Amino acid sequence: MSFTILGTGSALPGRIVTNEELSCMVDTSDEWIRSRTGIRQRRVCSGESLTDLAYQAALLALEDSCCEVGELDLIICATVSADYVLPSLACALQARLGAHCPAFDMNAACTGFLYGLDIAAGYFARNPQQKILLVGADAMSRLVDWQERSTCVLFGDGAGAVVLGPGNDLLAIELSAQGDIAPLYVPNSWGNSPFHQAEESQKKPYLVMDGQEVFRFAVTSMVQAVEQVLHKAGVRKERIAYLLPHQANIRIIDAAVNRLKLPREKCLTNIALRGNTSAACVAILLDEQNRAGRFQNGDLLVLTAFGGGLTTGASILRWNK
Ligand code: ACO
Repeated sequence: MSFTILGTGSALPGRIVTNEELSCMVDTSDEWIRSRTGIRQRRVCSGESLTDLAYQAALLALEDSCCEVGELDLIICATVSADYVLPSLACALQARLGAHCPAFDMNAACTGFLYGLDIAAGYFARNPQQKILLVGADAMSRLVDWQERSTCVLFGDGAGAVVLGPGNDLLAIELSAQGDIAPLYVPNSWGNSPFHQAEESQKKPYLVMDGQEVFRFAVTSMVQAVEQVLHKAGVRKERIAYLLPHQANIRIIDAAVNRLKLPREKCLTNIALRGNTSAACVAILLDEQNRAGRFQNGDLLVLTAFGGGLTTGASILRWNK
């Protein structure tokens, strides 16, 4: 017994930031961003909080699943950029929804939604008769240095949600972590502690990334995770209806699809308009494609992501809504 996806939802900020607009802020160009990443524009929070986005996504997922807030047994949010260090985004969301179930956040960076699915599966193994709201939400706009062209062009903000209910449609999941700070990190603040060493406390709370190192890791680790999850589920590659990969760079996605020898049309993307929304990427993509009527019952969907940690995950799900 695992679970089934009862419904999906997603939400984006209203503000669109185009590559042209960024090229007025830092030394970059639409041509560079498009050709190196596949991104044309992204949505960035201006008035919205991350809780606002998570709330909108959750309401849509509840509606899509015909589930009342009162039926929820657990809320999990995957995020690295909650509005507060504490309380968690999940608790802020629980209060906004008027839910009364336990709620917590988890951090596996961009792989957070995949890790969240695995945690949910554990809860369903203990009690098959329940409903879980899983949200992937991030506002990377608060973590990037807007004067650093090599990172600020890559990200967008957003939230995606699923309501999970009793079922047996998670066929297999594969997670891994290769603890390594250097390739991708955001330092936390030491506040105004008078005891902390000056050098450390002066580190800016912005994302630092070795792009090429992360690129190499991303392709290798996603391919490996997908192959492992297919093996675990005993499913041949040809049976995959769609691959929903993390949306970090179209070149990473293309390289992974080529190595997996999957037809390109089976790989779904939204990076051109969304950028990398971190833990929200795969959840937003899933919701957009659900709402577009892309999936048929019985379709096997492979979700995969990589991110800071460094972390990786892949899952194989049967669409059964
Ligand atoms: N505009 C113009 N030029 C730029 C920009 C920009 N926005 N950014 C970098 N450049 C320049 C560099 O300075 C460099 O110039 P140089 O040759 O004079 O030194 C040149 O472009 C090439 O830079 P590279 O880093 O080699 O470019 P690359 O082709 O590797 O692309 C990129 C960089 C897009 C960051 C790529 O490496 C990548 O996508 N890496 C993976 C990123 C990723 O997946 N991050 C995931 C984060 S997930 C999470 O958990 C948050």
